[in-house]
Amino acid sequence: MRRVALELLTSDMVLARPVYHLNSILLKVGTSHLERFISSLSKLGITHLYVTDRLSEDIILEDTINQETRLHCKQVLFSTINALSSQGVLKTDLLSESTDEILDEILKNTSVLASMNEIGTSDDSTFNHSINVAIYSLLVAKQLNYPRVRAKKLAMGLLLHDIGKTMVNQKILYKPSRLTKAEYEHVKTHTVLGYEVLKKNDSLTELSRIVALSHHERLDGSGYPNQIKGKEIHEFVRIASIVDIYDALTSERCYHKKRTIYEAVASLKDEAVGKLDSGLVSTFIKCIAIYPNGTMVRLSDGSTGIVKSQNPDLPYRPVVRIISDPLDRPIVAQDIDLAVVREIKIQEAKYMEE
Ligand SMILES: [Fe+2]
Repeated sequence: MRRVALELLTSDMVLARPVYHLNSILLKVGTSHLERFISSLSKLGITHLYVTDRLSEDIILEDTINQETRLHCKQVLFSTINALSSQGVLKTDLLSESTDEILDEILKNTSVLASMNEIGTSDDSTFNHSINVAIYSLLVAKQLNYPRVRAKKLAMGLLLHDIGKTMVNQKILYKPSRLTKAEYEHVKTHTVLGYEVLKKNDSLTELSRIVALSHHERLDGSGYPNQIKGKEIHEFVRIASIVDIYDALTSERCYHKKRTIYEAVASLKDEAVGKLDSGLVSTFIKCIAIYPNGTMVRLSDGSTGIVKSQNPDLPYRPVVRIISDPLDRPIVAQDIDLAVVREIKIQEAKYMEE
């Protein structure tokens, strides 16, 4: 399996991961002649698909959590938010069950580094973001040996951290150009609005609620809404800001292009100076695959390949299947282990320019 840009789809490729749109599956695994769908997928904001072809049939993409668990959580989140909008009441019992399912899988699964393989349309982005950050937070919680109950409180906070966004003006929220000062101030209110909604729900704990209130606060006091700083910022909130920034960087948003994981990790480290908890940033980086299996990469010798498998202790040096030489001529595929061949390194992940 590998990840391929829409414009590079060829007739020998078969869909290896479903394409989701809101609550349903748009294209099933096994769909062939994918080039038929290029223009409609691209209108929905999709840029890549996971496919299997001759070159990648033995490359396995491991999910951090399985696709059904993830889809179920998304459906629950969708109905929870719909019920809040229509009836004004937030019920979190189903969300709590769904969080338990995710938690079970993460605790059971010992080796998988996080790589979010779901292909969703841009309409799904709010839900995908909430689920991604909840999963990332649980991986950090696992590294920090949080007891289960504490990890769950953190994840519930992350699933609901942006719930206040359903209460701000959607035209401003999704405005593709730069916000005016007044518009930005309006969007910032999602933190307090979210906290107030969560406060009305007795089954949530205050620790989950403060994630919604404070996830935009920064250690140097430059955040919002209360400009709290340093020790005033709870560890849950510190984790939330890291995973929130990271997922925003690696997702397509209306106001910016998606970055590669490598670039996102680099800017997270930059941002960490003074603003984020650098110890927690390092803990988080240990949980993610810098070059997930199936990623196209350009190596320092000019050749191109597909990441085949991971060396967990050397996340920057996976095993790569070389498919074309430095002059971009196809070659008989051969695998090289960058943990062994130290003179070659990955120059870039080819997400954007493919
Ligand atoms: Fe937010």
